Amino acid sequence: MTRQNLILSDAGLLVQSCLLDGQWLGTPSADVTNPADGSVVGRVPNLGAKEAGLAVEAAQRAFGSWSKRPAKERATILRAWHDLIVAHADDLAAILTAEQGKPLAEARGEIAYAASFVEFYAEEAKRVYGETIAAHKTDARILVLRQALGVVAAITPWNFPAAMITRKVAPALAAGCTVVCKPAPETPLTALALAELAVRAGIPDGVLNMVTGDAVAIGAVWCASPIVRGLSFTGSTQVGKLLMRQSADTVKKLGLELGGNAAFIVFDDADLDAAAEGLIASKFRNMGQTCVCANRVFVQRSVHDAFVQKLVARVGDLVVGPGTQEGVTQGPLINKQAVMKVEAHIADALSKGAKIEIGGALTLPDSSFFAPTVLTGATMDMALATEETFGPLAPVFVFDHEDEVVAMANNTDFGLAAYFYARDLGRVFRVAEGLEAGIVTVNSGNASTELAPFGGVKQSGLGREGSRHGMDEFLETKYVYLGGI
Ligand code: SIN
Repeated sequence: MTRQNLILSDAGLLVQSCLLDGQWLGTPSADVTNPADGSVVGRVPNLGAKEAGLAVEAAQRAFGSWSKRPAKERATILRAWHDLIVAHADDLAAILTAEQGKPLAEARGEIAYAASFVEFYAEEAKRVYGETIAAHKTDARILVLRQALGVVAAITPWNFPAAMITRKVAPALAAGCTVVCKPAPETPLTALALAELAVRAGIPDGVLNMVTGDAVAIGAVWCASPIVRGLSFTGSTQVGKLLMRQSADTVKKLGLELGGNAAFIVFDDADLDAAAEGLIASKFRNMGQTCVCANRVFVQRSVHDAFVQKLVARVGDLVVGPGTQEGVTQGPLINKQAVMKVEAHIADALSKGAKIEIGGALTLPDSSFFAPTVLTGATMDMALATEETFGPLAPVFVFDHEDEVVAMANNTDFGLAAYFYARDLGRVFRVAEGLEAGIVTVNSGNASTELAPFGGVKQSGLGREGSRHGMDEFLETKYVYLGGI
């Protein structure tokens, strides 16, 4: 992908400016580093409150014409954006791996996942339905209209630099909203490349604005702005609560995808090979840096040893290394703080009686490459039971009874995802209904798709992304009463 705003400088860096009201601006001054080796791979502008405000004004100016455009026209532009993302999948994946670290094959998978949201919402744009309701008076009619919310803000994380952008921006644009977006400081290059493709697809000036820089200042301006009618955020529960507080004065519609503490339960009637495969997919995808990844593994006592043996054998097949290297399945953790958190959880667990079955340390000294790790003897008093590790650590707990494990799984403030393996149909229904999570996955390690609603309960967040439910976040319901008919 070669363009004036995506320039490979003499030093071989990706240098990008920000998209504001259809213009590319800002001096690229903030380094973007490769977590595999700490090298600088690009540079983006370090914008702040002033530009955040200008972006809101641009989005407000663009809202009238974008929201009034026939849905079919918005759909055509979104479809063109999808096609460009697919056409540039290799370039986007290379950028994504350079700044985020995940293996190239996984990065390609994320680009396809990102594109799927744009495709889905290009189609869904044409399916925004209102209602007529039988009225309570003969001379009256009751109509229900569904209208675009207005200007919305999207604040996205570093773990899925492409998919979390499109999962928010595509339904917003499809609904007729205009968007101000701030990608994570660790991974702005993928976001700006997606913005470039959006411009090429014909998204008009001001409809999508992408600003990089001072997260605190930008977030504060958008939360305080009465023009911004909705905020969609993916990230930590701590930051989500802050944004929620900052949005209180303007009573915004909030979509929050926050932290998780997913239980992964293996019952005694499970297919243990399938369960071990599923746990690899859930736990070690993106090095355990997903909000939905298994954080606590509960195995029924009678199958514990057999399951651990199968799991450890599979974990031994995982290959850690730079994401650009052939055959690598696990990239680096995003930074040193992430490494320190995994190390702290392991140290705390070992001090309370856990045992390392495999892994447990960096694969390369003074790097961010951490060995996929399995611990046994995990107990609920360990930090890993209540905190999200966000790394490649699978702690195995033992349980005896169904009711006991459902209570253990629910013993957390979070409720994003939960997984279990079982074959008894009654048990499948009882447990799926009993788990307090927005996403319950049965006999699989990954349920993510653009077709289904993604989101959490309890302190894991508000609202849903993906599917037709994802459009609702960007639509208002208006009741029109027609009298004197
Ligand atoms: C996340 O970790 O927040 C996203 C994971 C997914 O969409 O599968």
